[in-house]
Amino acid sequence: MTNPATPNPAAPTPATTTQTGTPVASDAHSLTVGADGPTVLHDRYLVEKLASFNRERVPERNPHAKGGGAFGTFVVTEDVSAYTRAAVFQPGAESETLIRFSSVAGEQGSPDTWRDVRGFSLRFYSTEGNLDIVGNNTPTFFLRDAMKFPDFIHSQKRLGDSGLRDADMQWDFWTLSPETAHQVTYLMGDRGLPRSWRHMNGYGSHTYQWVNAAGERFWVQYHFLSAQGVEAMGADEAEQLAGSDADHYRRDLFDAIGRGEHPSWDMYVQIMPYDEAKAYRFNPFDLTKTWSKKDYPRIKVGTFTLNRNPQNFFAEIEQAAFSPGNQVPGTGISPDKMLMARVFAYSDAQRYRIGANYNQLPVNQPHAAETRNYMHEGQMQYRFNPAEHRTYTPNSYGAAGGPAADPVAGVEASWEADGELMRSAATLHAEDDDFGQAGTLYREVFDGEQRVRFLETLTGQGRSITIDEIRERFFQYWTNVDAELGAALRDRV
Ligand code: HEM
Repeated sequence: MTNPATPNPAAPTPATTTQTGTPVASDAHSLTVGADGPTVLHDRYLVEKLASFNRERVPERNPHAKGGGAFGTFVVTEDVSAYTRAAVFQPGAESETLIRFSSVAGEQGSPDTWRDVRGFSLRFYSTEGNLDIVGNNTPTFFLRDAMKFPDFIHSQKRLGDSGLRDADMQWDFWTLSPETAHQVTYLMGDRGLPRSWRHMNGYGSHTYQWVNAAGERFWVQYHFLSAQGVEAMGADEAEQLAGSDADHYRRDLFDAIGRGEHPSWDMYVQIMPYDEAKAYRFNPFDLTKTWSKKDYPRIKVGTFTLNRNPQNFFAEIEQAAFSPGNQVPGTGISPDKMLMARVFAYSDAQRYRIGANYNQLPVNQPHAAETRNYMHEGQMQYRFNPAEHRTYTPNSYGAAGGPAADPVAGVEASWEADGELMRSAATLHAEDDDFGQAGTLYREVFDGEQRVRFLETLTGQGRSITIDEIRERFFQYWTNVDAELGAALRDRV
């Protein structure tokens, strides 16, 4: 539904109040000494109004600052109970969902149609707590080690001195980090400019784990395929829209849902038996790779449909706090080094960005499960335990004293790990390279027209590099992806 503010002058207007509910005398005039005299400090409503205004902004998300979202419903249409015991994925289960789409690099006011990877954050409000799958519209990522993530984001944002975005900086980082090639190929291809958020697929991108009722473990990749189809936008149209309608994607989603055109996505998974990971052709926990669909075909799980716009953008979208660490019994993370770091990073960012008790906000608290634990107090505590509830565990008060952890209910994903502490870039699988899948994407997945647009985009990118050494590495990077592509670029740039 849209949220139309329909004028109705006939209805009685309720009185404005202070934040503590007292009616106020004027919405327009400060309290002054005489008509032209000084404003007095004890005009408590004026002071409160100005102070509230001064505190309206919270820090924007560092990456993925510009976005939009909506609520919906997820329905499981198939039976994947052989792979997971998670209640949210059992046959016929229905759950409320929240999604937030975003761009990675720009700030809150940036145009939606700047070329970028798009965020695809999905929350399932399940009966076993919130499950968040915080992915992108690409099945891979630029990096395979979290240590490089802040540097990567810095290189996509703005220069320290001028505050400008800069092609030299972007290509300097990418060409010195060859593992970025696969994702940069996606980014410079059609996925970098989707027609709208409705017209793109989403991916969990990482490998996650599923555990079934018998305790068997599987590695899993999530895919969300758009029922609207996948469509891209031409570079000229994107540039024009960046000037004429910077909020193009946000508007498109809000208006479509308002019109009753409810977009939907089918959820699929690729399932790898637990024991096959070690001997797979490449490291299946390497986020720069996709799993072959021949080796691991997609299996359908269900469909989610977005059918409700936020009532309040700030409260429900800006304050939404997704985290890949929000897993439920029957789902979990994997030994992907990026994913393990993300489990720390998101909640840490949100404690700073929103506040210590951010999970008590209506959009973040579980909607279909209860929270019970011994954490309490801190800034803006809103929720609290019954009076008889102890503040510590163990305690001798039984059920009234508070909850007790249950290792069966709280079954966790796990895997074996053994070895010496080290900082390693070891490649232990036969196809653990940087450029192979990027070349396959360019030669075998892109069609002729996509390759033409790709070359066009890269030619423009190459021309925007001003430093010879970086431009030379740019040619070498694309030659490593595909020799003919590299030669064509050298020719055209
Ligand atoms: C170690 C690597 C990474 C780190 C440290 C990291 C960190 C962050 C942080 C701090 C935020 C802001 C969270 C907030 O303020 O609410 C964020 C947002 C986001 N990140 Fe990452 N990130 C990493 C990798 C990735 C990857 C690999 C993906 C996708 C596959 C991804 C997708 C997203 C998305 C979609 C958002 C926006 C979430 C939302 O809609 O609220 N990030 N990231």
